[in-house]
Amino acid sequence: MSEKVLCRDVRTVGFVCPMDCELNAVTCLFDEKKEVTYAGMDFYEGQISGHPCVAVKCGVGKVFAALAAQAMILGFRPDLIINTGVAGNLSDDLSIGDVVVSSAVVQHDMDTSPLGDPVGLISGINKVLLESDGDAAALMRGVLKEMNVRHAYGVVASGDQFVATAARRDFIRDTFGALCCEMEGAAVGQACYALGVPFLVLRALSDDANGNSPDDFPAYCVKVSETSSRAIAAFMKALA
Ligand code: ADE
Repeated sequence: MSEKVLCRDVRTVGFVCPMDCELNAVTCLFDEKKEVTYAGMDFYEGQISGHPCVAVKCGVGKVFAALAAQAMILGFRPDLIINTGVAGNLSDDLSIGDVVVSSAVVQHDMDTSPLGDPVGLISGINKVLLESDGDAAALMRGVLKEMNVRHAYGVVASGDQFVATAARRDFIRDTFGALCCEMEGAAVGQACYALGVPFLVLRALSDDANGNSPDDFPAYCVKVSETSSRAIAAFMKALA
């Protein structure tokens, strides 16, 4: 994308990444990288294409992800947070290696339905879906298209479980219309919603969420994270 695209007033971009391979896919792009410890977590500051960036490895699961997103917002004031990583595929139209860009996030394991609520409802804010930033999503989809990376735009479902059965996979897809499942995006989304920071989830598909994970899952995560890394580099270059 040769033309710079205005993505609201985004200057500093924060990246919340669950695992080392996902963090490395971001920090390998940093110029002038430095490490700062804040709130008991190691944050990395640097620049990509002249934009200040901050990244953190949050660890696996929704609690870690929310804590890291909140600490990042309070300590580093990013204008946009991108949660990157890998995910299980829920869609018949997508394959391992393809990418999902979030339109919204949902917690598939949030369930107060015995009290009469819809499944997934976050009590207190009364929402099932939290929308991600439309401008950032449009920019990310544009760079993925330009890179010829197969991708889709839709709901990302998060929960504190590695989805590995057809029954759970089908439940998440059919209940929420989600394209992929992972374990952090919706928690990052809820922290961002609470503190008024736009967010986006970018996930490369690593497995089919049905128990048929690639034999060497960690090695596969490294491989598919390379796609996210290239997409982030292009996104940052295209940011006005
Ligand atoms: N991350 C990658 N694959 C996943 C799966 N199947 N379930 C939850 N998180 C994942």
